Amino acid sequence: MTVLSSPQLGAPERIAASSRRPATLGAAAPGAISLAMGEPDAGTPTAVVDAAVRSLMDGRTWYSPMTGAPELREVLARKISAGHPRPTTAREVVLTHGGSAGLAAAMLALVQPGDRVLIPEPTYSLYADHAAMVGADVVWVAARADGSLDLEALRYEAATARMIIMCNPGNPTGRIYSAADLAGIGALLADHPDLLLLSDEAYGSIVFDELPFISALDLSDVSSQVVYCSTLSKTYAMTGWRLGFVVASGPLADKINLIHRTINGPLNTFVQDAALTALATPDADLQKMTASYQERRNLVLEALAGIPDVEILTPQGAFYAFPRISTSLSSDEMVARFAAAGVMVRSGSEFGPSGEGHVRLSFATDVTSLKEGLDRFVTAVAAFPQ
Ligand SMILES: Cc1ncc(COP(=O)(O)O)c(C=O)c1O
Repeated sequence: MTVLSSPQLGAPERIAASSRRPATLGAAAPGAISLAMGEPDAGTPTAVVDAAVRSLMDGRTWYSPMTGAPELREVLARKISAGHPRPTTAREVVLTHGGSAGLAAAMLALVQPGDRVLIPEPTYSLYADHAAMVGADVVWVAARADGSLDLEALRYEAATARMIIMCNPGNPTGRIYSAADLAGIGALLADHPDLLLLSDEAYGSIVFDELPFISALDLSDVSSQVVYCSTLSKTYAMTGWRLGFVVASGPLADKINLIHRTINGPLNTFVQDAALTALATPDADLQKMTASYQERRNLVLEALAGIPDVEILTPQGAFYAFPRISTSLSSDEMVARFAAAGVMVRSGSEFGPSGEGHVRLSFATDVTSLKEGLDRFVTAVAAFPQ
């Protein structure tokens, strides 16, 4: 399914015409439980908060360099080089105002009005809004029933496309792409040298059941066509700090950097200082966080198991579940029913055409609220019309 952009409209009108993103999540009604937000329940680690306070108390309140703090870029470049077959320089790391601004800057820098952007879905809803902002046409490519990429459909569309945007691990599905999926994407890129992959790996550190996770940074044969985007928001529970980063080959990174700094200017000095502490978080702490999300994922699966009207692909990472519910209600109507039953979730249709019939639950909330929210969810589903 292709959504053509309307060049006669301005960017705000184009976004407004096609966006499925809620302008605000709204406050939860009194007594309601929110399973709607993509926000870790644990606060930012104390060591990171302390580092920010130290930075401010040390008077680090001045502009940072326009292209981001050199030390932070260096640290990220070293981390990426050590973890992937992709020697990365500081020039190739663009520091951004959260993952959101990284994705937007990449799109503005690399996609022209009228270009075709392939978006495997269901997926994070911001990508389509960015495409509308730029004036690009969106080609939705539905996932296969098992959540894998429809590589044949992508191959069919690739010759006339500028970019593929992947979310891995997936928001809203929690699925991760297999080695075969990544190999297929690598082959597509190799066959189409003008095609770019924008891989959003905001949840790349949250992978369950010790499954192997293959990053787009591992596609070393086509690294000049890969644009990787991540954020400190989810891994380090730093959603409010607004720091992300993009990794791309030098020429692409320079363009993305230019767009990002033209819009944002330099990033917050003390946030970049504190990010150095965040990035030094011991692996054991990160694994503990992941284990805790995995336990909550299991609670979701247990609660939904055996409900005849609910089907779900097991989330393999991130902190979302995306059940499909058989009912005559639309996703939006289901969300309203759930809210009336005291549990807030997101409408599946926000995440692409094939999200209709689904809702998204976040299990990043605390266990007590999650259990209560799931009870309300299950009770509400039992009353849905067929
Ligand atoms: C897949 C994905 N990418 C990017 C973002 C944006 O992250 P940030 O808070 O760093 O802008 C989110 C936030 O929910 C997300 O789910």
